[in-house]
Amino acid sequence: MLGLGVYRPERVVTNEEICQHIDSTDEWIQSRSGIKNRRFAAEGETVIDMSVAAARKALDASGIEADQLDCVIVATLTHTQHTPAAAPRVADRLGSSAAAFDLSAACAGFCHGLALASDMVRGGTAAYVLVVGAERMSQIVDPTDRGTAFIFGDGAGAVVVGRADVAGIGPVAWGSDGSQHDVIAQHPECDLVHEGPKPVLHMEGTAVFRWAAFSMGKVAQEALDLAGVDVENLDAFVPHQANLRIVDMLTKSLNVPEHVPVARDIIDSGNTSAASIPLAMDTMLRNGEAKPGDTALLIGFGAGLSYAGQVVALPAFA
Ligand SMILES: CC(C)(COP(=O)(O)OP(=O)(O)OC[C@H]1O[C@@H](n2cnc3c(N)ncnc32)[C@H](O)[C@@H]1OP(=O)(O)O)[C@@H](O)C(=O)NCCC(=O)NCCS
Repeated sequence: MLGLGVYRPERVVTNEEICQHIDSTDEWIQSRSGIKNRRFAAEGETVIDMSVAAARKALDASGIEADQLDCVIVATLTHTQHTPAAAPRVADRLGSSAAAFDLSAACAGFCHGLALASDMVRGGTAAYVLVVGAERMSQIVDPTDRGTAFIFGDGAGAVVVGRADVAGIGPVAWGSDGSQHDVIAQHPECDLVHEGPKPVLHMEGTAVFRWAAFSMGKVAQEALDLAGVDVENLDAFVPHQANLRIVDMLTKSLNVPEHVPVARDIIDSGNTSAASIPLAMDTMLRNGEAKPGDTALLIGFGAGLSYAGQVVALPAFA
């Protein structure tokens, strides 16, 4: 990863504001999820707008021009059209006519994109690939649903992946469990024939919690094993920011030592799905918990159910 850029919408939404629509409290939300604040996109601010803002910074940090990109991948579940994808419009706004497509793997999308980009560069299909994770979760969450309203936030993060002398993206550990497709899902399904309510996100919180907290530690360990890196030698652990209690349980189940900083960006960003890992990397780099070149373990997981993780060298940032 040559360079990282992020975009955080201006509007900060507090737990107090969330509790205007649900029967809950700031204390309950913090104790069950760790979340204090999240950001919501402004009216009219789209996944494409946020992707472009993050991507411009990632290009700056990489020292790469948009016309050098060979591929643009946007991981998102909140772009409002199935067709056309967001990625070609992101590429166009950047001044690129690279191959461009969206990737639908929910909260695991960024790590899936990173795996594809790495293999493209290694295989010689591309010299430079832009990978974006961008979400406007606020538009698919029902603000009156106690089980989801407080969890999600909006934002975008992007990296440029390109050739390097030393491998900076380890082999991916990934998979899916489609038998649990319904535990995080939009309902109703898009109905092209009948008019009806707009699809919103539904989540069986306890089932998701159990799956993430108990199964994802094994996948993270597999990513470490594939890269030949011992957990003791990590400089940072950057799991998907689903819920602070899940972050803590994963940290414990992996035996991440005290000296390894763990991303806790969820406290002020909420769960931003595909954007959460690049946003969390940015926070760690910006506040000095980690530095470019450090060895970090990433793991994304969510709806599908889908998951992917890899060991990386942290990028430069802008
Ligand atoms: C959503 C989540 C915080 C709910 O916590 P939980 O402990 O599982 O909550 P439950 O649904 O079992 O409800 C427990 C109690 O809290 C109450 N409750 C639920 N939502 C509440 C809310 N927003 N505010 C206050 N109380 C709430 C319930 O009514 C229930 O009360 P009862 O015991 O009196 O019946 C938790 O399941 C979770 O974090 N799941 C994973 C979510 C996630 O990370 N998703 C993203 C994956 S990518």
